[in-house]
Amino acid sequence: MFFKSKETPAARIARIEKQFPMPPGELKRLEGRRWILNHVPKGGVGAEIGVFRGHFSNLICQIAKPKKLYLIDPWTTIGATFGWGKEYTNFDTLTTEAAREQSRASVEQHEDVECVIIEDIYPRCASQIVEPLDFAYLDASHKYAPTLNELRHLDKQVKPGGLILGDDWAPDPANQHHGVFVAVQEFVAATDWEIIAAGPAAQWALRRKLKA
Ligand SMILES: C[S@@+](CC[C@H](N)C(=O)[O-])C[C@H]1O[C@@H](n2cnc3c(N)ncnc32)[C@H](O)[C@@H]1O
Repeated sequence: MFFKSKETPAARIARIEKQFPMPPGELKRLEGRRWILNHVPKGGVGAEIGVFRGHFSNLICQIAKPKKLYLIDPWTTIGATFGWGKEYTNFDTLTTEAAREQSRASVEQHEDVECVIIEDIYPRCASQIVEPLDFAYLDASHKYAPTLNELRHLDKQVKPGGLILGDDWAPDPANQHHGVFVAVQEFVAATDWEIIAAGPAAQWALRRKLKA
């Protein structure tokens, strides 16, 4: 009787990358995004909201070395493919199942990290995050109103002194992701959060102001 050997996480990632190559420009941009994770204290509990294929999840594990990481993305619940039709999704041939499998394999490479995969949209799944977070990386809806809503929920889920970080910092009103910038500005103006870093490779980070 033959048993197929279980593929290692690295082999699963290589297989999926071969079938659906990530555009080289995105891989280059990924390297440029690493710096923001130097703000995250090591050994915490974190969440990545909007995971896609787990490339940044892998960096979170490598650099922030969390003890626990929630990965939240709707993946297959939105359909067989993402429906964006761009090079980023291999012109909509990348399946949501393959993206979820690659994400899972990316974190399984890091045996010290307890990973919880939630296949749903945030904040609908907020109650599945069962402890206060040290940090959350937001890279999900990219639109003004949903981003503001996501930030308001994270305000309740991230510990005092914790961090909210994210992608797509776009001060230019002509940029398709400018809504994220506007939502963050409105959020910090209305709360005790402050921007501690923003700019290179469109990364940003917020921390709750310390009480005087
Ligand atoms: C730009 S990709 C994330 C990329 C990933 N963070 C990285 O750096 O490699 C955006 C992802 O957000 C997911 N998404 C969209 N709306 C969401 C929501 N409300 N909650 C969680 N994920 C969401 C999409 O399915 C997609 O996979």
